[in-house]
Parts: sequence; C-alpha cells; structure tokens
Amino acid sequence: MKEPINFVDVDATLQTSTPQDILRYAIEQHDNLVLSFSGAEDVVLIDMATKIKPDVQVFCLDTGRLHAQTYAFIEQVRKHYGISIDVLFPDADAVQKLTAEKGLFSFYEDNHQECCGIRKVGPLRKKLLTVDAWVTGQRKDQSPGTRAAIPVIQNDKVFARPNDSLTKYNPLVNWTSEQVWGYIRANDVPYNTLHDQGFVSIGCEPCTRPVGPSQHEREGRWWWEESTKKECGLHSTNTKK
Ligand code: ADX
Ligand code: SF4
Repeated sequence: MKEPINFVDVDATLQTSTPQDILRYAIEQHDNLVLSFSGAEDVVLIDMATKIKPDVQVFCLDTGRLHAQTYAFIEQVRKHYGISIDVLFPDADAVQKLTAEKGLFSFYEDNHQECCGIRKVGPLRKKLLTVDAWVTGQRKDQSPGTRAAIPVIQNDKVFARPNDSLTKYNPLVNWTSEQVWGYIRANDVPYNTLHDQGFVSIGCEPCTRPVGPSQHEREGRWWWEESTKKECGLHSTNTKK
C-alpha cells in the first residue's frame, strides 16, 4: 500500500516538472491509471505516456456528435501507437429521451449542460469508477475564464468512488499551445486534420467552430455562451469554488 498523497506538497513540486516527469510520477504512483483523450492536440500525452508505459490505458468519450475527422484521427492514433482505445458511449435511453423531448440541437436553446451531462459526464463517471487515477490534457492557457488556476495534481472528489480516492493529473497545465505544437512537430506526432482548417480547440461538431485571427481558442467552443460557463462537467471543479 502506497503512502497517501499530500496533494498540496506534491502539486508544488510538480508545478515545475516537465509533462514527461509528471506522467512518470503518475504512472509509478498508480497501476490503474487512464488517459482521457479528446481526439485533439492532447495526443501529445499519448505520445509521452506510451514511451513510459507502452500499454497505458486510454479512453475517449464518443458523444455521437464528433466530427468525421475526429473519428478518423482516433483510429489513426490507435494504429500509430498500437494501443487499445476504450471508446465510451452514452446511455442510449438517456440520449433518446433527450432528443425525443428537445430534438438534436437543444444546447443552442437551453445551453450545453444537459446534453454534455448525458453524452460526456455520464459515461465519464462510469469509467472513473473503475480506476484509481486519470490524466487529462487541460492547460491553463486553454480557457482564461475557467482554467487559469488548475493544479497539476488534484484529489478528484467529484468522480471518486464512495469512500475511496481518485487522483486527477493535468500534466500539460503549464504548457502553452505553442509548446504543445512544438512537441507535435518535433516528434512527428499525428494530429487531427481539423487543426489545418482553422480549428484550434476541438470538441463536438455542432459546438465547435474555427477561430479567426486574434480570437482566443475557447471562442470556438459553445460560442453562444458566457466564457465563465464554458465547462461541460468533465472538469466541473474548474467552475466550482
Ligand atoms: S471540454 O471539457 O471543454 O470538452 P477540452 O476539449 O478543453 O474539454 O479538453 C480538455 C481535456 O478534457 C482533454 O485533454 C481530455 O483529457 C478531456 N476530454 C475532453 N473531451 C474529451 C472526450 N471526448 N473524451 C475524452 N476526454 C476528453
Ligand atoms: Fe452535446 Fe455539444 Fe456537449 Fe457535445 S459539446 S455533448 S453536442 S452539448
């Protein structure tokens, strides 16, 4: 049995570590750890983690609303790294109930929380009940409205099993978009072709659009909503005090 983690102290140390060292620490600390891969530039985590643990667990939330290019990219990544990607689907009854009551685009009318709750958060919650730690590609520079203060390591009380702990790692937290793209180019990492069409931050197709010059990447996500509300529940600790 490993010593319980002192999150404040470990976070203070990991804040100045490289993403690779953070991943190494996380992988050594937890046998049952999983990477959450969105099908975008967070592929760098798969590149780094498979160099440490070639059979690292990876999952992807298939909301049913991703771009065709994202599905193609997930498959490309699976083959390129020779890994198994756990593609998680939402509960069919919940999706059918939502679409029967409100149609396929309710998020434009009453915001994205309900649809994201069914298509992303439900399957994520189910998955996280089976692991001890998860790793995300969140960065501070992705969303000044919600991500400016996220730590490298967190005690995830939102998705933990009852009376158990779940640790969340954000190894790219202090990297900028430029550093991520520098790594992708320098290491010939495959990337989603949508990035060549003006898309910076990529989520579901109806809720993502390309951004123009000088626009922040988050402006391409849920653009009809306020910037401080732009979390879908995957990272709800970012918007809770
Ligand atoms: S979101 O909450 O706004 O959708 P974002 O697209 O910024 O998240 O991605 C941040 C991190 O959340 C990703 O690096 C990934 O770890 C996780 N994530 C987001 N979408 C998915 C997805 N569809 N499947 C798995 N992980 C995801
Ligand atoms: Fe639904 Fe849009 Fe959320 Fe995807 S991002 S789950 S389509 S509201």
